[in-house]
Amino acid sequence: MKLTVRAVRSVDIDMSQPERAAAFYKTIWNLAEVERRDGSIYLRGTGRFHHILAIHPAPSGFAIRRLTFDAASKDIVNALHRKVVAAGCKSDAPHAIATAGGGYGFGFADPEGRNLAVVCDVKDHADAADVRDRPRKIAHVNLNAADVAKTNAFFESVLGFRRVDHSGPLHFLHCDIADHSSIVTGQTATPTLNHVSFEMPDSESVMRGAGRMRDAGYPIEWGVGRHGAGNNVFAYFAGPEEFPIEYTSDVMQIDDSYEFHGPEYWKWPPGRLDQWGVTPPHTQRWKRIQDMYLFAQGQWKI
Ligand SMILES: [Fe+2]
Repeated sequence: MKLTVRAVRSVDIDMSQPERAAAFYKTIWNLAEVERRDGSIYLRGTGRFHHILAIHPAPSGFAIRRLTFDAASKDIVNALHRKVVAAGCKSDAPHAIATAGGGYGFGFADPEGRNLAVVCDVKDHADAADVRDRPRKIAHVNLNAADVAKTNAFFESVLGFRRVDHSGPLHFLHCDIADHSSIVTGQTATPTLNHVSFEMPDSESVMRGAGRMRDAGYPIEWGVGRHGAGNNVFAYFAGPEEFPIEYTSDVMQIDDSYEFHGPEYWKWPPGRLDQWGVTPPHTQRWKRIQDMYLFAQGQWKI
């Protein structure tokens, strides 16, 4: 039994205008609504996960509420729970989950106060074929950390991640699926969200998505380009309430033989920010919004 989470299953966000946000994620970002409950709206990608984005009403303002990780079995959920408790985190005991998709799992607060959850046995979808222009799933979540070494140590020793690359300020954390990384971390002043990345079936879908976003009044904030570590194609945007989002594709698939490389290996020649050498630098707006979303305080129970 490999004691690790498998992927970022879903992201919960609090929006001051949830209906407006949901309309955007359905008609422009190209997710599909699966369920509504108590004012919250649940959206799926084309992959099997019941939902990948949950939008909650937040009269007091926007926030990121939670990241939920997928686990392979109840045994793994229970074992990860014991490790979370041993690490001194606030946590609820594993239980049958009453929210959309159900399943079995627990919520907890990590050492920097991020609300995280681990679940298994969710009511997932049987249809999981790619559809052009539609996101499959969350590719990764990039987290800003007040103490990145401590945050990395927690994800590695408690949740079973492996740090597979370190490029510039970013650390890439791989878990038990073939994707190069599911969590990315970087050092900042406060623990905030950097961005949430949605995986498209191919780079054509990323490009057409970037065009669709521009047409709808959401300009590209960084990209289109191809990253070094992870080898993925990227385009970054400010969604409703300036939530920082990415379309990505072509994420490198790796196994245990993948070799770690550090910042010297991943250095770009002067003036370059991606493999192709085509993307302009990040916009000022991107620099602001990639450190703007705080985790909703005290919302670690699921
Ligand atoms: Fe990213």
